[in-house]
Amino acid sequence: MSTATQPNPAELAGLPAADPDWLGRAIDEVAELTEPGTGVTRLAYTPLEREAHTWFAEHMTKVGCTVRTDAAGNTIATRPGRTDGPAIGTGSHLDSVYGAGRFDGIAGSVAAMEVARMLDAGDVETNRPLRFVIFAGEEGARFGQACLGSKLAAGLTSPAELDRVDRDGVTLADAMAALGFDGRTAVANPWRPEDWAAFIELHVEQGSVLETAGLPVGVVDLISGSTRVELTLRGRPSHTGGTPMLGRADALAAAAECVLLAEQEVLGPTARGARATVGRLTVTPNSITTIPGQVTLSLDVRDVDADRQRLLTASIVAKVHAAGRSRGVEVSVRVLGDTSPVVLPLWLRETITSTAVDSGVPYRILTSGASHDSQMVNRVTPAAMIFVPSRNGLSHVPEEFTSSADIATGVDLLARSMLRLDARLGPAG
Ligand code: HGY
Ligand code: MN
Ligand code: MN
Repeated sequence: MSTATQPNPAELAGLPAADPDWLGRAIDEVAELTEPGTGVTRLAYTPLEREAHTWFAEHMTKVGCTVRTDAAGNTIATRPGRTDGPAIGTGSHLDSVYGAGRFDGIAGSVAAMEVARMLDAGDVETNRPLRFVIFAGEEGARFGQACLGSKLAAGLTSPAELDRVDRDGVTLADAMAALGFDGRTAVANPWRPEDWAAFIELHVEQGSVLETAGLPVGVVDLISGSTRVELTLRGRPSHTGGTPMLGRADALAAAAECVLLAEQEVLGPTARGARATVGRLTVTPNSITTIPGQVTLSLDVRDVDADRQRLLTASIVAKVHAAGRSRGVEVSVRVLGDTSPVVLPLWLRETITSTAVDSGVPYRILTSGASHDSQMVNRVTPAAMIFVPSRNGLSHVPEEFTSSADIATGVDLLARSMLRLDARLGPAG
């Protein structure tokens, strides 16, 4: 951790402070863009997500940015610098899971908007262009794979992945086409590394480390990976009264065993830190007086170690097959998504931590259990993440909360870090 105190370019540039009131209003405004129901539902590659991107674009044009949308549906606002060349970026996502809170992805998006507003208000000139990005389809809730827009931008998506389907059978390609995006064009047109110098994403922690430690800010060293599979268990549906217990092939009883064996697998001593969750379970025919014939369940395995993540998934799947055989239930497996853990570059992380020290902002280094666009962006350009605290560590639920004051602290650090980075990298070319 740097102890040298350097005049932060922000002070030299007369950068104003982040405005918590504006941040709060912006979060409330975008939360209105949701499907009906509890919490916020603004799914990947839906018209609602596009409305949120339009809301972002309209704000950014008012603070001196030009805005475009790439082939994957990522919206990119560019603020010119003294020179052209590789840009410093920030941003996050505006899509959500089903019944989400109002901060996951949104905090980093309004942070980007506020940084642009602060620079404009302070008439701050930078050496390099700055780019403020809203990624499309970060949440895997609809199609299984997380970070769809940033994965396309990183050139990590195969054409076959466009055939992944949502719970209504809509393919990713069709969902994109309905919004005017051609998936194959997006696959063939990733971002160019030479256009980028670095990227810093602000995000709510979605855990309770910062709140427990009483710290306003975290700086991420490693983002967990995730392997997600769909397991389908096919038994023998029949009358619940006429069918004796012995000899049943009850798909739901088999599924119940699988949920618990997945949990057991990651509670063992060799799997400390891994996480395995069955988040969705669909029963057919789901009728009181019929033995469940088929159950489809999602398995989400997260880890900070790539090999262990995939070995644990394989071990759980093997045990599911064994449980199926013992019950006369047939098991089939479909991979929904697979992302490796990513260690974020130390030099960029230290630009943020040295800025925090010079700004008197206490912080700690921590890993991210959640996946993020930055783990895809890091394949294009060096990426870093700033976390702000989540109340009670909750996320992906309506109770998700981070105070505007905490977000403003993170935004000030984000803006100062970007200006320090701009000063350190100097003019492009
Ligand atoms: O699922 C995740 O970890 C992230 O919220 N997309
Ligand atoms: Mn997120
Ligand atoms: Mn999320």
